Amino acid sequence: MKLKATIIWGVCMLTAQLSASVFSADVFSGYTLLKQETKEMQDDDFLNQGMATVEKGGKLFASIGKNGKSCETCHGQGGKKLDPKVIATYPVLNSKTQRPITLQQHIINEWTENLGNAPLKYESSDALALEAFVRNLARGQVVNVQTGGKMVPFFEQGKKLYEEARAGQLDMACASCHNLYPGLKLRAQVLSQGQSNGFPLYRLADGKVVGVQTRINQCFDQFRAEGYPFGSEENTLLELYMNARGNGLKIETPAVRF
Ligand code: HEC
Ligand code: HEC
Repeated sequence: MKLKATIIWGVCMLTAQLSASVFSADVFSGYTLLKQETKEMQDDDFLNQGMATVEKGGKLFASIGKNGKSCETCHGQGGKKLDPKVIATYPVLNSKTQRPITLQQHIINEWTENLGNAPLKYESSDALALEAFVRNLARGQVVNVQTGGKMVPFFEQGKKLYEEARAGQLDMACASCHNLYPGLKLRAQVLSQGQSNGFPLYRLADGKVVGVQTRINQCFDQFRAEGYPFGSEENTLLELYMNARGNGLKIETPAVRF
């Protein structure tokens, strides 16, 4: 018994030391934990399968809408007039509604309001492609979500959903895994902080590009709980909190993850 306890204690101390050395920085990207071959896939635009979605988004960005305009009419060829620094601040406070709005929702709104097109469904492949294209323009920019002023109450609500809203048979919150156990092995995977800086990203397990709200629901499924509808208030608040929690990380869109 004594020997067994000593071994367990030893393993715990070793794990604690490893965690301390590997995760000394406050925030780290899921990229840190990838296998070398997956890192190489993400880093090389020819190998990165998410780039096909970015290219598709580029075509949609240049496509002429029902009213004769395209995104390029106002934002320049290839979006060259869009400011990557502004893209890195999403979700932002929407001046009309005085509520936070995600980048994808902003794009969906412009698709109908500025191009006169039929609405895109949240997390549909076209909406994701446009978002991936726009976020890719800001690749390498530092995530910089504003959480002060009018954003304070929304940030606090998002934080509550992330840290305290326990759900499912396992009675877990996002923080139960991503705040308490980063670095821990869970079945075949190593737990990261669940950062959102790589989205929309290519998930090898799915063989396609997924948005952050799809990934949130995949995690809910994982601990056998019901997620929130795409584009819902809860998901907007969660995304706001998650992106802000990753302030200081570099945007990696399109990242590659298992
Ligand atoms: C008629 C001109 C017009 C068209 C067409 C247009 N936009 Fe915009 N867009 C704007 C203006 C003006 C802003 C800045 C003010 C705001 O936030 O609404 C903006 C803001 C943005 C932003 C946020 C970055 C920033 O600098 O505020 C993104 C991203 C964006 N547009 C993407 C798109 C996409 C994608 C399309 C095509 C579906 C599109 N826009 C079509 C005028 C346009
Ligand atoms: C039972 C543990 C568990 C819980 C609870 C959990 N997740 Fe995860 N999550 C994982 C695992 C395992 C992965 C895949 C490995 C990794 O990146 O951590 C993951 C990955 C992620 C990723 C992708 C990170 C990246 O770099 O691509 C995001 C985002 C995420 N989770 C968000 C959430 C959110 C939001 C919640 C709460 C609704 C949540 N997770 C709850 C286990 C969990």
